[in-house]
Amino acid sequence: MKFKKPFFRNLNGPVIALLLFASQVNAQKVNITLETKSNALVLQADDKKNLNTIYFGKKLSSPTEYELIPSQFKQSAEYTGVLNSAYTSSGSRSLMEPAITVTHSDGNNSLDLRYVSHSIKKESDDVSLLSIILKDPIYDFQVTLYYKSYYKDDVLEQWSVIKHKEKGNVLLQKYASANLYLKAGGFWLNQYHGDWAKEMQPEESKITHGIKTLDTKLGTRANIFQPSVFMISMDKPATEDEGTVLFGALEYSGNFKTDIELDYLNNLKIISGINNYASPYTLKPNEEFTTPAFLYTFSTTGKGVASRNMHNWARNYRVLDGKGDRLTLLNNWESTYFDFNEAKLFDLLKDTKKLGVDLFLLDDGWFANKYPRNGDGAGLGDWEENKTKLPNGVSSLVKEAKSNNVKFGIWIEPEMVNPKSQLYEQHPDWVVKQPKREEYYYRNQLVLDLTNPKVQDFVFGVVNDLFIKNPELAFIKWDCNAVIYNAYSATLGNQNHFYIEYMRGLYKVLERVRAKYPTVPMMLCSGGGGRVDYAALKYFTEFWPSDNTDPLERIFIQWEYSYFYPAITSSNHVTDWGKQSIKFRTDVAMMGKLGFDIVVSHLKDNDLKYCQEAIKTYNIVKPIIWHGDQYRLANPREGSVASMLYLNGTKTSGVMFSYLVNNRYDEGSKMPVKLKGLDAAKKYNIKELNIYPGTNSTIDSKKSYTGDFLMNIGFNPNVNSGRTSVILQIDEIK
Ligand code: DGJ
Repeated sequence: MKFKKPFFRNLNGPVIALLLFASQVNAQKVNITLETKSNALVLQADDKKNLNTIYFGKKLSSPTEYELIPSQFKQSAEYTGVLNSAYTSSGSRSLMEPAITVTHSDGNNSLDLRYVSHSIKKESDDVSLLSIILKDPIYDFQVTLYYKSYYKDDVLEQWSVIKHKEKGNVLLQKYASANLYLKAGGFWLNQYHGDWAKEMQPEESKITHGIKTLDTKLGTRANIFQPSVFMISMDKPATEDEGTVLFGALEYSGNFKTDIELDYLNNLKIISGINNYASPYTLKPNEEFTTPAFLYTFSTTGKGVASRNMHNWARNYRVLDGKGDRLTLLNNWESTYFDFNEAKLFDLLKDTKKLGVDLFLLDDGWFANKYPRNGDGAGLGDWEENKTKLPNGVSSLVKEAKSNNVKFGIWIEPEMVNPKSQLYEQHPDWVVKQPKREEYYYRNQLVLDLTNPKVQDFVFGVVNDLFIKNPELAFIKWDCNAVIYNAYSATLGNQNHFYIEYMRGLYKVLERVRAKYPTVPMMLCSGGGGRVDYAALKYFTEFWPSDNTDPLERIFIQWEYSYFYPAITSSNHVTDWGKQSIKFRTDVAMMGKLGFDIVVSHLKDNDLKYCQEAIKTYNIVKPIIWHGDQYRLANPREGSVASMLYLNGTKTSGVMFSYLVNNRYDEGSKMPVKLKGLDAAKKYNIKELNIYPGTNSTIDSKKSYTGDFLMNIGFNPNVNSGRTSVILQIDEIK
């Protein structure tokens, strides 16, 4: 990572902490240039110390030329000098969408932040942290902007820390994490929407003047209708391999808000942070308010590069055990729902072994006695084993798993409660609900009040007790099936802090879990895919993209998630959803972290044989899928065939998945699919994997092809109505 300060000195020392005080820069401009491998963000404090963004885009070979950029834009009059503010304040000159709005202790609403100093700390060869102090000249109010750069991955994280020394409290009305400012000849927004079983539906539109807001007010399960991830294409809609595109994501699991404003100069402002909906925050003197980080990457060569940047960053720096191993599993949710007992589970443990996966995951329904959890209407919150179903407890299952030589994992939903539960009866004040209003349920349940430290102890205790009683527990599926209606805490002093304190409470619990159990894999699940973000993935090894496991639907859902999250984090299960063959279902699930949720004993002999062999194959190729580079070859939304390639870092081995996604007459892979990322000079051999017992491959594995051929002409996986799913292994011939 290189930071260049053309006006002062080149900063390439080992650990740099340079402080430039405003007095030193006196009435001259200060340029702050933050470069990563391919990109540059250039901020400038002008002679009046307004801190503005003068450039964000592809890195220039001569950094001294960044300051020449503004002179080349003749866009129209700029009346305030702060339209391109690096952190837009309100109540003074800026009348555009603010990043920050406050009411000072004296009731005044104006804020005007000016550059004071900045410092740069090199945390490693790859990571640097730039901090910039801004202060209001009138009020003792300060914001520090932080920019953490990941040089190799072309990723930036940006957040702010707000504090003041005023005589009384300050009310923060808006408190964004980041405020970007982009210039281009037009902008296109690719956003997502969804619902249960319909997660991650993309929509692309040209951005028109005014403000487009992406947000959620759901509190928990926050992404179900609108995830915080988005893409902005510049100049023209970016494709997989062409065009300029920014990928953004707020690292936050609660209410978020991203305002995207095309201003009268045709420039684009992106302001992202915690949603200020019902959340004005009272900040005491000297208290620090730290916003979550806004994460972004940028590519001038299409979405594929941006997505691989995200994947690399996520595995290198964020996802728990991002470079590690994962467990394949058999889950019992769809095979039993709530209807099981010890004997049935013992059989499933045998099936786990027979199938050849690593772990058995016991889902919902194992707990509660006064109000047994035999459906989703009761028992949530009462985490002792149901004596009828499990007379010998979970420990007997863990023991039985061990004797079958498989591991054991368990489902919990510790943030939630059914009104029909002992927990609710004993602690009605632990529940989020309006004291004077009728309760309103989502899946017959309410959310526990994680703003309350006692509830935090309880939620931590759910996990802790399980591990204390069952030290060999190897996996947790952490579910979250309700949004927050009637937001109110019985114990929180300031209800305006409710949504923020809820998330703080959740993260405190997760911190405690990870402090005590740092490595146990945990799946982030949320009534399907309602909760995944890069704050939560610090604590989780994987997420559940959707309850919709129809493999045809999954091709589309996984495709969209794959832009932002690496395959190792995507839990994909083979279930009985959809009409496709077991081969199709298994192949689709192999494009991430493979699991099964089927009745193994109901499988026909050949289907079982197919699954067993596929798991063996998966165990060989999974390092490429989990740790390799992902290339989208054929988009299911653009043709009849979907195709995805995973390639190892040395470009010697890859796995290519292709599917028929259109059942109309005579559809199939009529054209070769062009591969990507290979070494043009290497020679490769291609052979088919996952061949269903009794069938033959139509691929001639004796032929060899250069990378050049495969990338420019392509290879036909021979997908058609008789071969709807084809997996190919590509190996260098030495
Ligand atoms: C919702 C999850 O998405 C499912 O996988 C399952 O765990 C159920 N909850 C259990 O209630």
